[in-house]
Amino acid sequence: MRVGVLFGGRSGEHQVSLHSARAVIHALQQAGHEVVPIGITSEGRWLVGGDPLHALSSGEHTSERAVAMLPQPGAYGLVAVQPTNGEAPPIEDLAGQAGQAGLAGLDVLFPVLHGTYGEDGTVQGLFELAAVPYAGAGVLGSALGMDKVVQKTLWRGMGLPVADYLSVTRRDLERSPQVVMDLIEQSLGYPCFTKPANLGSSVGVSKASNRTELDQGLKVAAQYDAKLIVERGVDARELEVGVLGNEEPTASVVGEILPGAEFYDYRAKYIDNGSQAIIPADVPAHISDEVRRLAVAAFKAVTASGLARVDFFLERGTERLYVNEINTMPGFTEISMYPKLWEASGVPFPELVTRIAELALERYQERSRNRTTYAVEE
Ligand SMILES: Nc1ncnc2c1ncn2[C@@H]1O[C@H](COP(=O)(O)OP(=O)(O)O)[C@@H](O)[C@H]1O
Ligand SMILES: [Mg+2]
Repeated sequence: MRVGVLFGGRSGEHQVSLHSARAVIHALQQAGHEVVPIGITSEGRWLVGGDPLHALSSGEHTSERAVAMLPQPGAYGLVAVQPTNGEAPPIEDLAGQAGQAGLAGLDVLFPVLHGTYGEDGTVQGLFELAAVPYAGAGVLGSALGMDKVVQKTLWRGMGLPVADYLSVTRRDLERSPQVVMDLIEQSLGYPCFTKPANLGSSVGVSKASNRTELDQGLKVAAQYDAKLIVERGVDARELEVGVLGNEEPTASVVGEILPGAEFYDYRAKYIDNGSQAIIPADVPAHISDEVRRLAVAAFKAVTASGLARVDFFLERGTERLYVNEINTMPGFTEISMYPKLWEASGVPFPELVTRIAELALERYQERSRNRTTYAVEE
């Protein structure tokens, strides 16, 4: 297959995406696929040719060219954008240059993009308009996977176990902080966790054990999103499961994260080396069976497709399980949980990325069966 791999993007997880993409590209090549790397700068410009991964990692641009994807179905895929005096040429010119750009005929796109504008349904909307097959969740699945309030409301409504939470808007917080904090103290108590509703990698996540910390945590989260979620702090072990498939997804073995900090914050994830992944997790069979069942249910509930990692809390003392979150484009470096979980389940990395690309094509074909025109029969 000829696979366009997208990475970078306008997201706080830009750097993480570059690391993930490096590993995905390597695995796709190992599996014998041809890879077209497509870098997206922090400002949202798309680059191809040269070495976009190197360009974004180092800031040294060589022969990369700016391209765009047109929001209309067509054979040309990506088209060159050659700004003259900072202005892009008209569409007609762009289409004519497609051949030069040499990018027509990508079989599938693999958006290895985490967080905003990559994992939240926005870029997926562009792929839908352009009618190109792409890996992972669609518009709705991505958006639901991104919004921690909506996904939890949905899961709870379907009877999946979710720890108690409250949704808070930045507006309410700024207008009446005391009322908001009173409500949180009454309904959730301490410790609690404050988070932006739409983010990842623990950015903006804090643990609060008293009102001062709560006030601080809410302010931090409110810097990243207009909607926040506050959750009861669960004293728990953290379990993670990989899910793979479209309509009949399967779950990997269960893994456990041992955070090298008070909780699994950004530093513990990416900077300090103290965190550990235990695969398979040392939990009784009835727990791992239940986690795998819940992971598939949570995946289906948000209409995810292709792949996702579903994260759980196993509460100490009560042994209760809670679904914490779903990541529709989980971290994908060689040492990331998702590929390691599948490797431990008998699916090596090159086979995993091939399967994900194939699932993208299957989903595309299934969607192509839908009629997009309607004529009233005489
Ligand atoms: N309700 C909670 N109880 C206990 N720990 C939590 C809770 N919510 C988050 N955490 C801790 O914070 C980390 C990051 O929160 P999470 O909801 O997974 O956000 P992100 O999408 O940024 O990974 C978790 O891995 C866990 O260590
Ligand atoms: Mg998480």
